[in-house]
Amino acid sequence: MPDKGLEEVVAAQTKLSDIDGKLGRLWYVGYDIHDLATQSTFEEVTFLLHHLRLPTQSELDEVSEQLAGERDISGFLAALMPTLAQQTSPMSMLRTSLSAASAYDPDGWDQGAEANLRKALRLVAKTPTLLAAYHRHRTDQDVILPNPKLPHAANFLAMLLGEEPDQDTARALDITLVLYADHTLNASTFTARVIASTLSDMHSAITGAISALKGPLHGGANEEAMKMLEEIGDVDRVEAYIKDRLARKQKIMGFGHRVYKTEDPRATHLRRLSRELGERHGDTRWFEISERIEKVVMDEKGLYPNVDFYAASVYHSMGIPTDLMTPIFALARMAGWTAHVREQYADNRLIRPESEYIGPLDQHYVPVEERDGSSEVAS
Ligand SMILES: CC(C)(COP(=O)(O)OP(=O)(O)OC[C@H]1O[C@@H](n2cnc3c(N)ncnc32)[C@H](O)[C@@H]1OP(=O)(O)O)[C@@H](O)C(=O)NCCC(=O)NCCS
Repeated sequence: MPDKGLEEVVAAQTKLSDIDGKLGRLWYVGYDIHDLATQSTFEEVTFLLHHLRLPTQSELDEVSEQLAGERDISGFLAALMPTLAQQTSPMSMLRTSLSAASAYDPDGWDQGAEANLRKALRLVAKTPTLLAAYHRHRTDQDVILPNPKLPHAANFLAMLLGEEPDQDTARALDITLVLYADHTLNASTFTARVIASTLSDMHSAITGAISALKGPLHGGANEEAMKMLEEIGDVDRVEAYIKDRLARKQKIMGFGHRVYKTEDPRATHLRRLSRELGERHGDTRWFEISERIEKVVMDEKGLYPNVDFYAASVYHSMGIPTDLMTPIFALARMAGWTAHVREQYADNRLIRPESEYIGPLDQHYVPVEERDGSSEVAS
């Protein structure tokens, strides 16, 4: 019997990130996530993942300028956006737009290492612009162009919400992007690496990764967690709600993890941010409900919250609509996906596992005119 879900299978080597699920530790290129969450920025982490070292100040300035300089989206995508905004969900819009973006990438079909680094940075730079433009269109508001003077996180909030965020809010978003930037061989990253291993192009690999992230068992969990908080609505209703859900064998979104058997170290920072943002905005209701859910789920099931649980209330406090929470995960993970794709190209072998056949054996082929519809299926 193969390992269902490939739980214990090591399917790639990477220098990008590492997890110790028993100790609840996460590193990017050997740097502890706690140090990165408190001292680094998304721009710096993007450089780290793509160059496998921290940048000097001038390198950091350069990558920040490159990202700021690549934020504009093509005229084709800008023209497509009003239709996408009416017809598709945010994740489907991202899947379609990032696939379409390949046609307008100045490096075209160049698969060289330098071209792929430029493509990677363009994808990281443009994803927030796509998301903000989509949201402005669907809410009948003017699209706000990127401001090259603002850092990645602050610029995204400004384009999305129409005003420059205060420093604390921008920094809080930046920290969440650092936390979401990479996470070993999760489902979407594995998808991207499988596609890259066929020597298909960067945009195809990213389109596949977005499709994998869309599912509620992966990136979709932060949105489901927010819907649950809103359904509960009051801290006094938490216990009955959770117990009822568990009794009906339904999962509590934002809890449990394939690798972490203790606290997800990213949740530690998101819990703190959820409390701080709630206090700053004078509305700690979502944090209090979340904290209570955490306690009840621990008592009932012994499960810890994962990255997506407190991300929900953090993003909600920033005024981010619930259905943009998974796309924000995507815009952060873009740094990791693209780095993994480049790492796969650099030392490639086609990823092609085996399957175990469990269907019927030695079947007798009956011509179609002789079949009576009651074909025997060997068990
Ligand atoms: C993340 C996740 C898919 C990991 O799954 P997995 O390693 O395949 O673990 P399983 O789904 O097989 O769960 C193992 C057991 O824990 C239970 N469990 C796991 N996560 C649970 C959750 N969030 N709520 C309730 N029970 C849960 C399962 O019901 C199962 O119980 P059982 O053995 O009595 O049937 C799973 O924990 C989950 O679905 N969580 C909710 C979605 C989520 O938050 N995803 C984001 C991940 S970062």
